[in-house]
Amino acid sequence: MSRVLAVIAIDGPAASGKSSTGALVARRLGWAHLAALDAEEGRRRTAKDGERWSAQRIVALAEDLPVRLVLVGDTFRPEVAGVDVEEAIRTDRVTRHVSAVAAIPEVRTWVNARQRAAVASHPTGVVVDGRDIGTVVFPDAPLKVFLTATPDERARRRLSQRGRAVLADEVQRESQALAARDEADASRPVAPLKPAPDAVLLDSTTLTLEQQVEQVVELARRRLPH
Ligand code: CDP
Repeated sequence: MSRVLAVIAIDGPAASGKSSTGALVARRLGWAHLAALDAEEGRRRTAKDGERWSAQRIVALAEDLPVRLVLVGDTFRPEVAGVDVEEAIRTDRVTRHVSAVAAIPEVRTWVNARQRAAVASHPTGVVVDGRDIGTVVFPDAPLKVFLTATPDERARRRLSQRGRAVLADEVQRESQALAARDEADASRPVAPLKPAPDAVLLDSTTLTLEQQVEQVVELARRRLPH
């Protein structure tokens, strides 16, 4: 008898709350959390870097180092040659260079296979968030959530994360940048940002983080076997 895949896919635009929601939903369910790296932003700027190496060479190197997803507590963290790189891979300097590589189809296929293996290895279940989780990585996930919020609200959230007062003109600038990015992400050729046909659309504009977590947990209780 085939087992229902214990995975919740959360996709959505930048600063919609995917990662914070994913981590809290996982904790509520006693599951693990896996946050995929969105490498597309840098790819547009540095496409040439990725073309210097063949896809086969990059995948062989990833196998040799190795590049792995390691479960630490309730979070899958990326590790390169035994070193935890969770923080390092999210810095601008690294995304600018690594993203060219991450956009190569063979490399994406390899990464997606690692993500599937991580989920398959977990005894309870995994909440995975990213941009193409419900559409490409786990098209058979029993629960897919597409998290949205208006660009203004996402701009406020992103700016609030810095821990200082948020000015109206900063929100306006950030909001315009996010709207432009949404447009580019939705129309890009590799893994365009769009909800899977069977995704639940969750507009979090007027919700608190706790409320949106509660809604996803509620959907999980209704849809997933327990
Ligand atoms: O992963 P993603 O870029 O989609 O967003 P995030 O880093 O999880 O969330 C951005 C910020 O918005 C975090 O500081 C959240 O606490 C905050 N936030 C939220 O996600 N949802 C709300 N309803 C309110 C705030």
